[in-house]
Amino acid sequence: MTKSCAIVTGGASGIGAAVCRRITAAGRNVAIFDLNQDAAKELAAEFGDAALAVRGNVLQEDDFAGATDAVLARGWTLDGLVCCAGIPQVPKATADFSLADFNRILESHLSGTYAACRMIGGQMRKSGAGGSIVNLASVVGLAPGPTLAYGPAKAAVINLTQILAVEWARHGIRVNAVAPGWTDTPFLRPAERKGERDLTPIIKATPLGRVLEPAEIAEVIHFLLSPASSAVTGVTIPCDGGFLAGRGWAAYGGFSLDEARP
Ligand SMILES: NC(=O)c1ccc[n+]([C@@H]2O[C@H](COP(=O)([O-])OP(=O)(O)OC[C@H]3O[C@@H](n4cnc5c(N)ncnc54)[C@H](O)[C@@H]3O)[C@@H](O)[C@H]2O)c1
Repeated sequence: MTKSCAIVTGGASGIGAAVCRRITAAGRNVAIFDLNQDAAKELAAEFGDAALAVRGNVLQEDDFAGATDAVLARGWTLDGLVCCAGIPQVPKATADFSLADFNRILESHLSGTYAACRMIGGQMRKSGAGGSIVNLASVVGLAPGPTLAYGPAKAAVINLTQILAVEWARHGIRVNAVAPGWTDTPFLRPAERKGERDLTPIIKATPLGRVLEPAEIAEVIHFLLSPASSAVTGVTIPCDGGFLAGRGWAAYGGFSLDEARP
């Protein structure tokens, strides 16, 4: 049985949970690190001996030390990290978005990713095992929309990914990111929005014409975690149904060539 283990922050829900399913199906162990311990435990039970659930806050470095100890106590090697934890931001104008609101989102996505990389990357260096880290960026980190703090946080996650990839290359640690488009998870419909979200604008802006499934994002993350991507580090792979490629088409009336007006 393999000793390889990946920690998945925010692993109890959405994309993180899909990653846990994908990597355990491939024979790897997983440590599900999430604020929501009940959900993490429930998910871990699906995977039997191949999973453990840790109640962890990505803003508490000590929680990563505890998670690392729990992984090592099982005799596993910590050679993977996926940083999915984070809270959604409902679009707001600057007048309605305080500095405290801004800092809360930035901390959750940027500081939380930094803490995870620093602590788990530190363990990978210490053990000499090397490893692969995958951070969750977003298309809004590449194509800004009205998400004042979330977009800048994801742009910074892309930048941080490049910095760490270069710093840690000599330790055999690869660091990459994925930039999902709109994906069908609880994140897409935060309670704060109140009521069902109209997904029509998202579907219209996405050439594939649909929201994405968490398992589709998890498949790309699994590739980046695995030796199949051994030559890849410091990149951000969009998993966006064509959203970024299609942005310019709005000026020509949309995605159909029949409707294009040069
Ligand atoms: N769903 C999308 O459309 C989408 C698109 C682009 C990027 N992303 C990114 O993908 C990642 C995962 O999103 P998702 O859609 O799976 O969200 P989700 O809401 O389904 O899951 C997020 C998980 O993170 C956990 N979490 C939140 N704060 C935490 C903290 N401080 N410490 C530990 N755990 C914490 C939550 O408990 C939850 O289980 C996020 O970084 C998000 O920004 C999502």
